[in-house]
Amino acid sequence: MRDLATNLHAAFAEALQTPATHPSGDHHDAMVKQTVDGLAQLSDSARRHVDIGPYPDALTHYGADLLAQMIKTPLAELMRDLWSELHWYEIFSDASISETLSKGLITAPIAGTRGQLVSETILSGIFLLAPHIHYPLHQHPALEIYYVLSGEIHICHGRDKAPMRISAGDYSLTPPDQVHSLTTGDSPCLIIYTWTGDLANENWWWVKEDDVWIRKCWQREASGTWKVVHKEPLRDEIIALSGDA
Ligand SMILES: [Fe+2]
Repeated sequence: MRDLATNLHAAFAEALQTPATHPSGDHHDAMVKQTVDGLAQLSDSARRHVDIGPYPDALTHYGADLLAQMIKTPLAELMRDLWSELHWYEIFSDASISETLSKGLITAPIAGTRGQLVSETILSGIFLLAPHIHYPLHQHPALEIYYVLSGEIHICHGRDKAPMRISAGDYSLTPPDQVHSLTTGDSPCLIIYTWTGDLANENWWWVKEDDVWIRKCWQREASGTWKVVHKEPLRDEIIALSGDA
């Protein structure tokens, strides 16, 4: 596809012109600006070829229906055009999570350390969640936007917060270090995401072990797949940073 960077920036900027369904705090406009500015840094002169590997099971099962039901916005149409060039893989692989979860969360990078558009300052890609998936509470230092292309998702910003439904054509903003979880219902969901700001290679999941909250750190390997590398108690200062205090 020609002019991918230019078109991605323009289409994403258009998609973010309306307020987020799940704005999360007082810095809505600044977070949108950070994301649009990050997309503006992408360049079609920094393109690389990406080999398309075997399709993960979740893509075989849900990809065609999600594509058929996708909304008709410029950003969604851009993703439709790019679809045949995407390399998909399962995101999380670790003995501590169920096969349902590891097989039910797949991604195809577009920009960043992987994907066609080379960048050290922004990550963007497509994210597919199978039906009946609960992606547990987690936090990362990057600012995250999820724009739903097909289906719907419930996002929750804390252990005791009410989930918010994000439907196709709507988006959520998750500030740096804000803890959040994702849940699908009877249908799968297709999202385009961005990470901007601090792109440290860490994603901390909050889990209860023996009735005590801990957090475990996942890190991305060269293949793109994330693995658990560390566990630690969930300390008060971390909770205070997470929006869950
Ligand atoms: Fe996240």
